[in-house]
Amino acid sequence: MKTTGIFYGSATGTTEKIARRIGELLGVSREDILNVASTAPSKAGDYQLLILGTSTWGNGNLEDDWYDFLAGLEAMDLRGKKIAIFGCGDETMRDSFCSGVGELYDRLVNTGAEFIAPYDTIGYTFDHSAAKPGDSLEAYGLLLDEVNHPELTETRLRGWTDLVSRQS
Ligand SMILES: Cc1cc2nc3c(=O)[nH]c(=O)nc-3n(C[C@H](O)[C@H](O)[C@H](O)COP(=O)(O)O)c2cc1C
Repeated sequence: MKTTGIFYGSATGTTEKIARRIGELLGVSREDILNVASTAPSKAGDYQLLILGTSTWGNGNLEDDWYDFLAGLEAMDLRGKKIAIFGCGDETMRDSFCSGVGELYDRLVNTGAEFIAPYDTIGYTFDHSAAKPGDSLEAYGLLLDEVNHPELTETRLRGWTDLVSRQS
C-alpha cells in the first residue's frame, strides 16, 4: 500500500495549487495528487494517509466536484487509515469561512479513519466556520485564504505539513 494520497476538489485552481505545494513539501509523487472530479473513490483504498482538500462555495458548501467522490468515500471502511484535511476560502464570507472542511470532517467521521493535524486559524478574521467546532482554538485541518492573506500561506503550509509528518 502506498503511503500518502492527496485528493482535491478545486473550481478555479487555488486548491489544486495548494495540493501540489503540499505534495512538494511532503515528497508525494505527482501521480498520487488526484483531482476528485476524475478519480474513483475506491482509489482511496491504495493509501494509508489521505490528505483531502476542498474550497468552499455557495454559502459554506463543499466544492462541487467533491459530492460524488465523497458519497463513495463515506461508504468505505477506512479503519486503519489517517485523514488530514485542508481548505481554501475567503474570510470575508464571515459565517462560512472554509466551511467545506467541516463538511468533509462531518461526513467522514464515522468511517473509522483517524483524523490528524488540526490547526490554528491565527491571522484570519471571521465569525463562524463549520471547520472550527464551538470555542475550539483549532480547526479540523489547515484553513487558508489565498484571496485576502496569501502572505500567510507558505508559513502555514510548512507548519502544517510538519505536523502531518509527525502525526502520520
Ligand atoms: C460565489 C462564491 C462563493 C464563495 N463562498 C465561500 C464561502 O462560503 N466560504 C469561503 O470561505 N469562501 C467562499 N468563496 C471563496 C472561495 O472558496 C475561494 O476563492 C477559493 O480560494 C477558491 O478555490 P478553488 O479555486 O480551489 O475552488 C466563495 C467564492 C465565490 C466566488
